Amino acid sequence: MIEFYLNGQKVTTNAAEDTPLLWVIRDEFKLKGTKFGCGIAMCGACTLHVNGNAVRSCSYPVSLVKGTQVTTIEGLNNEHPMQKAWVEEQVPQCGYCQSGQIMQAATLLKYNPNPSDQDIVNHMSANLCRCMAYKRIQKAVKRAAADSSVGIYEPQTDKELEA
Ligand code: FES
Ligand code: FES
Repeated sequence: MIEFYLNGQKVTTNAAEDTPLLWVIRDEFKLKGTKFGCGIAMCGACTLHVNGNAVRSCSYPVSLVKGTQVTTIEGLNNEHPMQKAWVEEQVPQCGYCQSGQIMQAATLLKYNPNPSDQDIVNHMSANLCRCMAYKRIQKAVKRAAADSSVGIYEPQTDKELEA
């Protein structure tokens, strides 16, 4: 049994230890915002956060999340400047890659709240978009970085809530 926090709630899974986290999130916990693209850690569609860091859940064994805090697109604070900027810049076309794009982008602001254009390109370059929304993605990240409310966005865990 593997116990971890999923969007702030303590959860357990009996999935085999080598099951990719993506399938536990989607199939067991029914959170469908995290997408399957390539399955080999090459496209970024499946990006979510483990302890605040972006990981590719298609290639991340569920055994590694024991005791950690996992955040999916559903658990990102609705007031997150990245989500607001995505709407304001009308970024998505088909939308398939976009939850992964937002989760990847959110980690940039966490460590670099005032990124340069090149910082944004470097940070986002491994998240692919078949609709070529790259320019709008970059504009949205810039817009979010200008939002002075940038701060803590990961949901609190049960433990933190109890403290
Ligand atoms: S589906 Fe995970 S990186 Fe492509
Ligand atoms: S918006 Fe269609 S793949 Fe990115």
